[in-house]
Amino acid sequence: MKAMCRNLVLLFKVGIVLLAFSGCGKNEDNPVETSIVKPTANVAENISKTSFTASWNRVYMAQAYQLDVSTSKLFETFLSGFQNLAVSASFQDVTGLIPNTTYYYRARTTSNGKTSENSNSIEVKTLPDLTNVTLKGSAKDLYVGTCVQASKLTGSYNSILVNEFSSLTAEYEMKMNIFMPTQTSFDQKSYNFGPGDAIVNYASNNGMNVHGHALIWHNSTPLWIQNFAGSNTEFESVIKTYITDVVKHYKGKVKSWDVVNEAFEDGSESLRNSIFYQKLGADYIAKCFQWVKDADPEVLIFYNDYNLEADLKKRSAAFSMIDNLISRRVPVNGIGQQLHISYDGPSKAQIETVSQMITSRNLLVHYSELDIRANPRNELTSLTQERALAQKAKYKEVVQVFNALPKANKYAITLWGMKDNESWLIDFWKQADWPLLFDSSFQKKEAYNGFIEGLMN
Ligand code: G3I
Repeated sequence: MKAMCRNLVLLFKVGIVLLAFSGCGKNEDNPVETSIVKPTANVAENISKTSFTASWNRVYMAQAYQLDVSTSKLFETFLSGFQNLAVSASFQDVTGLIPNTTYYYRARTTSNGKTSENSNSIEVKTLPDLTNVTLKGSAKDLYVGTCVQASKLTGSYNSILVNEFSSLTAEYEMKMNIFMPTQTSFDQKSYNFGPGDAIVNYASNNGMNVHGHALIWHNSTPLWIQNFAGSNTEFESVIKTYITDVVKHYKGKVKSWDVVNEAFEDGSESLRNSIFYQKLGADYIAKCFQWVKDADPEVLIFYNDYNLEADLKKRSAAFSMIDNLISRRVPVNGIGQQLHISYDGPSKAQIETVSQMITSRNLLVHYSELDIRANPRNELTSLTQERALAQKAKYKEVVQVFNALPKANKYAITLWGMKDNESWLIDFWKQADWPLLFDSSFQKKEAYNGFIEGLMN
């Protein structure tokens, strides 16, 4: 008898347990939902100016999906026709969109009249409409410049210059070896200001800024200065007079100057052993900066150099020099990062680091000679689409880094040339390359689009 009772109790307990798992023990107050697997949304594909393809992973046994598209990250509003849009496939083209605009989408699974939870949300930005944009028109709070030559200011050069650029730098015609090629009595008319004046007048006539480049540079020093036989005191008088005359000649027309260019040895913390160092001493940089400011108190004055991003010794020496000028209240307004770089380096972080070292000193940042080699290892004989897109991405990255700087520290981004085939890099490296925004036929390249996208994002 006892055994039978024990069995009955056991059967009763097992029944309770089975009821609970089967859901028959349903408590009307707490319905047990049969969950439907939600999809995982993927990054958008086929992104264009006015469309993209939303996509998500297929869900096993799903009968269909629902798609939401919104311009609101929280889906507070929905794109017309894209709220709970029934979709049978695991992707959906979304069209009729606005260029350069951010959209969000998410999906749900539907099955037997039930709907899953929302998928993750994906952000996608349509491409900018580049048909009517220009470099300078897309730039906020910065000049977009290029280097020029006095003999190339007409025809297609002129069309692109006036439409695209807001600042000019003389590629070589405002350097000492052009301004003062021979011994001079320092009477104004003995200077060769012709080509520089042509560039400055062209810029003035077209409402463009002019960045002066470069008052003191070991690579553009006329022979009579390099071989100066007079005393150090006489040399100082020659250089001070030169700087004063040039800066005063362009006062009010040239708004900024690279006062000293490339003063430090590569891979070293040493000043180059230039004639300026030899005859004016280690403090020649401070003297030159002061002379410029004395000649034109309004002009912005820069130190300019290359490879500050990867040459840590040069970088350390340059910023120590700048900090010394600042500590002594020697006037300095900005630093030029030349940025003669490649599609694969230096990294975004390396570029950012130098720019932030400049802004942390409350100085202006000038990406002063930007070109991006597409063929640094000479493995290409023509610019492939793949490499063109990689170069585009690097231009976009560089511009985005600059654009993210504080407004007060943005001076300009200056390209070192207009057309690929006229880049100094071709002669310098004696090999094919395509480093600039326009091709040899003055046509915009992918690189141009990358620059614009960088300005817009
Ligand atoms: O246009 C004349 C031509 O008419 C003449 O027949 C020929 C021979 O004398 O010279 C031509 O001018 C040359 C000019 O480039 C244009 O090609 C100059 O001699 C030559 O000195 C000049 O070289 C320039 C170089 O600086 C030196 O001033 C490059 O164009 C220029 O891209 C380069 O730029 C430097 C920056 O100033 C500083 N950072 C590095 C950068 C590259 O070296």
